Amino acid sequence: MSKPFRVAVAGLGTVGAGVVKILEDNKDVITKRAGRPVEVVGIMARDKTKDRGIDVSKYKWSETLEEFLNNDVDCVAEMIGGSEGIAKDCVEGALSSGKHVVTANKALLAHHGAALSALAETGKVQINFEAAVGGGIPIIKSLREGLAANKIKSVIDILNGTCNYILTEMQQTGRDFADVLKEAQEKGYAEADPTFDVDGIDTAHKIALLTSIAFGVKPDIDHMEINGIRNITAEDLVHAEELGYKIKLFGICKNINGKLVKSVEPCLVPLGSTISAVDGVLNAVNIEGDFVGTSLSVGFGAGQNATASAVVADIIDLARGNEIPTFGVPANDLVDADWGDVGDSVSRFYVRLVVVDKPGVLAEISAIMRDNNVSMEAVLQRGEDDENVPVSVVITSHLVKQSNIVKALDLIAQKQNLSESPCLMRIESV
Ligand SMILES: NC(=O)c1ccc[n+]([C@@H]2O[C@H](COP(=O)([O-])OP(=O)(O)OC[C@H]3O[C@@H](n4cnc5c(N)ncnc54)[C@H](OP(=O)(O)O)[C@@H]3O)[C@@H](O)[C@H]2O)c1
Repeated sequence: MSKPFRVAVAGLGTVGAGVVKILEDNKDVITKRAGRPVEVVGIMARDKTKDRGIDVSKYKWSETLEEFLNNDVDCVAEMIGGSEGIAKDCVEGALSSGKHVVTANKALLAHHGAALSALAETGKVQINFEAAVGGGIPIIKSLREGLAANKIKSVIDILNGTCNYILTEMQQTGRDFADVLKEAQEKGYAEADPTFDVDGIDTAHKIALLTSIAFGVKPDIDHMEINGIRNITAEDLVHAEELGYKIKLFGICKNINGKLVKSVEPCLVPLGSTISAVDGVLNAVNIEGDFVGTSLSVGFGAGQNATASAVVADIIDLARGNEIPTFGVPANDLVDADWGDVGDSVSRFYVRLVVVDKPGVLAEISAIMRDNNVSMEAVLQRGEDDENVPVSVVITSHLVKQSNIVKALDLIAQKQNLSESPCLMRIESV
């Protein structure tokens, strides 16, 4: 029998405990596929007495990071989380001492990916992070390996199951954001502090990593406009549906004339498109390459089983001896991207304005749009007959530069007595 591949697992929460379980339950098939046994040697978490659904007494428990990193292993699985602190120390310590790293930690890699990739190369070891993006969807493998022959044109994804669940529930039940968020928290689909998810930060970390592999650039979360789903109303979802669309929170990166434009934003997608049917907690990744065309992958983006499945696949890859640079190219070849301005991007848009319904309002809005080269495709007006009650005016535009429509909305807001800020969303034909 070949020499076992030895692993130490740091963090035994949702993902870490799941990793240990899969390695125990599927030992036979994993040994065959890895070509050698995969053994958990050491483990570490904060509380040794916590019930985790696994028998921790079978493994060597470390009380400190120093003790943990002294384990004689081939690979450290970092399942603690967070971009700084112990998770970072653990990954740096493992790489510096010649151990491969498998991690599900998108925050760590989005912030420090370039430096960690270089550190791995210096130590002649690898970082695998399939579970960090899209959980059970093998999208890192697809991009780093399966699509390696292509120049990538765009990456457009649904990467946050919490947001997708909330938007799906709002659309299907007509309930408001706050109400659905509360239910998602009760069901365990949303964290007690949902900021990272609903404000788009989690999606930003993930699109930063996919952008790095897709375009050969250093992971970067600064050059990105990030908008979450807090301001989307049940009314927006109704209007979108009337106009033939659904609303999805997308992480987007496109190569537009040699410049990369990256954003996280709620977008309208045509009803009937494949990605519009990706509902609930599911994730989807849509990649367009110059030779492959469009490739869409769908699956569970989080949860113990899907995420741990991806972690164990990464461990098997390492046990097989598969070698690949962290972001698909050697760390020294990762470049600083030439970032474009999202305001220069050209799209169709959805606009909702809440105005006081006086005679001439629509004419004035139309004139401002026209003067800023915004050509309107459809206009819906909804509301009361009572002129004291504000009404919603919903507009879809033809293709227009984003900065033009933003300027038009600023002028409309100055001239009209809007009872709330204008809502502007891109229409993406994925
Ligand atoms: N949950 C998902 O569905 C999912 C999906 C994709 C990626 N991820 C990523 O996977 C990673 C882990 O997430 P998770 O959901 O499994 O988190 P979690 O349930 O909160 O587990 C974190 C683990 O880290 C341990 N830990 C925290 N601080 C520690 C310290 N100072 N020393 C030692 N151990 C410490 C905790 O110990 P105790 O148990 O003793 O408190 C716990 O076992 C994160 O990077 C996350 O972003 C998670």
